[in-house]
Amino acid sequence: MTSENKIYFYPIWLRIWHGINALGILILIYTGINMQFSSPKFELMNFELAVNLHNISGILITLNYLLFFFGNILTNNHKYYRLKLKGLIKRLNLQIGYYTSGLFKHEQPPFPLSQKRKFNPMQKVSYIITMYFFVPGLIITGLALLFPELIIEKVYSVSGIFMTAVFHASLGFLVSIFLIVHLYVASIGKHPLNNFKSMINGYHDLNGH
Ligand code: HEM
Repeated sequence: MTSENKIYFYPIWLRIWHGINALGILILIYTGINMQFSSPKFELMNFELAVNLHNISGILITLNYLLFFFGNILTNNHKYYRLKLKGLIKRLNLQIGYYTSGLFKHEQPPFPLSQKRKFNPMQKVSYIITMYFFVPGLIITGLALLFPELIIEKVYSVSGIFMTAVFHASLGFLVSIFLIVHLYVASIGKHPLNNFKSMINGYHDLNGH
């Protein structure tokens, strides 16, 4: 294969961030489910161990987020996260049409990837929402729960800690849903493993789509 068929989309800093992030989030989901639903009848792992692992992974994910945030600002990668609102609904509809129908009829994708376009519109929107709203929200509410003295005692008559915990668990749920869809979408291509290989070697294979 000639190098024209490959694009270096994932520089090393991005792959390191992504690897730590993926592992950290998986640990957070597993330990979080254990903490949320743990009872004498149901325990995926020792409760105290789950709490400790959750706290450590949460701090790791927070520090790692700085790598994503500043890496994106300081390199060209931020240009792939710029969203043009004009015509967005139309572009999203085209992409949804492809995922729900065109893909199964072996049609060409409406937004083929290129040096200028790393994400299709749905990927772009979901990455922006996840990385700039859900994950920071999880980090802020997680840090607040780690240092509860920082939380307002009562919001109207509801406990501030309770409300923060509800927000934290809800955002955790949304990131879990994102992850399931993310894994499915990443497996779409000529071979289901192509995109996963790209995240390891850095190169996106244009023939793999
Ligand atoms: C087992 C876990 C995961 C696997 C196997 C995985 C796999 C992948 C793959 C193959 C790509 C490149 C193709 C693409 O853009 O779709 C990718 C990109 C990406 N993933 Fe994941 N992912 C995982 C977890 C996560 C999590 C938990 C998040 C965020 C909370 C995340 C956020 C992203 C973002 C933002 C990109 C685009 C990065 C960029 O190029 O700027 N991933 N992932």
